[in-house]
Amino acid sequence: FNSVATKVQRNPSFETIKSDDISFFKDILGDKNVIHDDDRLLAANVDWMQKYKGSSKLLLLPRNTDEVSKILQYCNSRHLAVVPQGGNTGLVGGSVPVYDEIIVNLASMDKIISLDKVSGIITCEAGCILENLSSFLGNEGFIMPLDLGAKGSCQIGGNVSTNAGGLHFIRYGSLHGNILGLEVVLANGTILDMLTSLRKDNTGYDLKHLFIGSEGTLGIVTKVSLLTPPKLLSTNVAFLACKDFLSCQKLLLEAKRGLGEVISAFEFMDSHSMDMVLTHLEGVRYPFPPKLYNFYVLIETTGSDESYDRAKLEAFLLRYMEDGLISDGVLAQDMNQASSFWRIREGISEASMKMGAVYKYDLSLPVEKIYDIVQEMRTRLGHTAKVVGYGHLGDGNLHLNISATAYDDSVLAQIEPFVYEWTSSHRGSISAEHGLGLMKANKIHYSKSTETEVNPHKIPVTKVPQEIRLAVVASSKFLKSIT
Ligand code: FAD
Ligand code: MLT
Ligand code: ZN
Repeated sequence: FNSVATKVQRNPSFETIKSDDISFFKDILGDKNVIHDDDRLLAANVDWMQKYKGSSKLLLLPRNTDEVSKILQYCNSRHLAVVPQGGNTGLVGGSVPVYDEIIVNLASMDKIISLDKVSGIITCEAGCILENLSSFLGNEGFIMPLDLGAKGSCQIGGNVSTNAGGLHFIRYGSLHGNILGLEVVLANGTILDMLTSLRKDNTGYDLKHLFIGSEGTLGIVTKVSLLTPPKLLSTNVAFLACKDFLSCQKLLLEAKRGLGEVISAFEFMDSHSMDMVLTHLEGVRYPFPPKLYNFYVLIETTGSDESYDRAKLEAFLLRYMEDGLISDGVLAQDMNQASSFWRIREGISEASMKMGAVYKYDLSLPVEKIYDIVQEMRTRLGHTAKVVGYGHLGDGNLHLNISATAYDDSVLAQIEPFVYEWTSSHRGSISAEHGLGLMKANKIHYSKSTETEVNPHKIPVTKVPQEIRLAVVASSKFLKSIT
């Protein structure tokens, strides 16, 4: 089932769960939050892609930070391995157990604690679903700076732990910039209160950044405070066609220059991605029948002046259609049409699963090189698999998906290590936004030099390696000792 996990040895120093352990957890969490029946464990053991599967016998649903702390303290003392899980939408096999780790899911910790309506700073528990936060904020006149296709299931704690990028990164930047504070429980149960909601705070090391993107290897994120931008009145979405990748690239530069203050997304997809979506997803309408093009670009603008913003985008589109950079284009006339354009782009992940199996690569590369790897891969694989390229062009982030009818080691051998070596030779990143997870735990050296490589996944079964945990505690002690 999972060719990666079968090559990883279970760390023998970890204990297995005994009936006393279950009794302990029931005492602190109550019976209904200690899940050990097979049916409910099934979904928690398999990832979104149906690619990675663990065999955990226990799922815990803590209701507050104190319970998380008690769970981790106990597991630490008993040498029981733990895997934190959010919405289980991760794409690198990090959210499910490899073997029999205890799954700790914060789904029951989904309270919004406060919203500062002047500054737009929201503080909430880490189990809040991204879409619920967006709806809540929308009613209050703010938006989440993060948006992604999995918004209906992913939890903000999972987003923080993967440092998810998403569709509006070009406008609002990384979570490293938007997260103001975190509360985290370390593996030994220590609660680190870093939950400030201050925009500026230069009192020593900013420890929270260690946890953003650390994929649950350093501890469990229990609360989050983040800065949310005001909701602006006018949003416009255009779906465009380009004849070649160079035109997409040039259009990006022009969009940054000409629409700089309003641009909120610049996404691209190739004809193979479009074909995949149209073949496998129901109810998706192609914007340019009967003509087909090689590349498509989705541009979204968000601003505060409806007529000015629309006129600006219209003038931009007209100019570059005349100029030839844009071969065809439609500007959404209403919210429904805008959503249907987004559905095409956001539907690629779902569509690419429909052939049976998908190998996903999430690369950061210099923009002018982004499409070369897609073409090289297509030449390498011939008709064995369908190679599609799409992604957040505005951020230099390519998603290279290779769909096949089944997971097959001979197909994998044609893709890897080639894809990693190629990326490394262009000084790219082998994980732009999805993280390392089990998939890339041992590939970190392709993007980090020996001196800077701290591999959080070095000990495969535990999600909380001892040496890193100690480093965090040591650095916070060091902070105290110099004052
Ligand atoms: P999970 O998948 O449950 O976990 C992810 C990792 O975080 C695991 O290593 C887990 O151990 C750890 N973790 C989870 N919760 C916690 C916690 N509270 N404390 C500590 N560690 C924790 N990603 C992007 O970056 N950009 C995208 O545009 C994007 N689009 C996607 C679209 C689809 C359709 C899908 C299925 C996925 C997409 N992803 C994207 C990947 C994924 O949704 C994100 O990585 C998301 O942030 C994961 O959140 P989650 O709650 O599902 O976490
Ligand atoms: C996306 O941008 O659509 C996501 O990162 C998910 C994916 O690539 O499948
Ligand atoms: Zn993405």
